[in-house]
Amino acid sequence: MAQRSGGSAEVGATWVLIAAAGSGERLGIDRPKAFAVLGERPLLAESLDRLERCELVDAIVVAAPPGWEEPSILLAEELAASKVVACVAGGATRAESVAAALAEVDEQALVVIVHDAARPLLDEAVLERLLVPLAEGFDGAVPVLAVADTLKRVRDGVVFETVDREALVAAQTPQAFLAPTLRRAFARDLEGATDCASLVERVGGRVAVVDGDKKLLKVTTADDLALVESWL
Ligand code: CTP
Ligand code: MG
Repeated sequence: MAQRSGGSAEVGATWVLIAAAGSGERLGIDRPKAFAVLGERPLLAESLDRLERCELVDAIVVAAPPGWEEPSILLAEELAASKVVACVAGGATRAESVAAALAEVDEQALVVIVHDAARPLLDEAVLERLLVPLAEGFDGAVPVLAVADTLKRVRDGVVFETVDREALVAAQTPQAFLAPTLRRAFARDLEGATDCASLVERVGGRVAVVDGDKKLLKVTTADDLALVESWL
């Protein structure tokens, strides 16, 4: 069940879904990762706050850890995040969490941007970059970073191939999509999808890349959390 916020969000063209429903096993704390403390407030507050203040964003849906919908709504209220339209319970996988949030998106939405709560340091410039390819006819856009290390395929501790790095990039979030294309992608099997772009690619969508941002580091371990905190 979606918890409706008391917010006054008006339906607009650009929606952001925040995937925040993970348990944060690798962080290993006593609560879901979205509620880990980052600079004296929950991790989720950082991206929520930044998205609320961003003029490109019209409405926000949070996929919260199951049982944490209410605290998520309270957090949105504390931040005066009136663009938050709903907080829904996430699913067993990231894709299922995004699907639950996508179900709350208005029919009139033109663009849906999906972001990980685990990447708190969201800069507005990334959102600006993502919207350019969508205006040029692409179905989606993702921020990427070049891969610095040499990549090798290994099996049982033995290298059997060095991968050509030239054509490889690391994909981050936020990822932006035309709303109808994302809906079509999520109407299919979600199995094995580690990001939204891969689902859009599966239905033949054209996804452009834009420059990512090192500060969009995904908080996975306690070390990552400390590093991101030092960048606040
Ligand atoms: N996520 C989600 N629903 C899930 C799993 C993940 O919304 N069922 C979200 C997380 O909240 C996070 C993002 O997807 O913002 C990326 O996932 P990850 O970094 O793997 O977070 P967790 O799954 O929470 O961490 P772990 O894998 O260590 O348990
Ligand atoms: Mg995970």
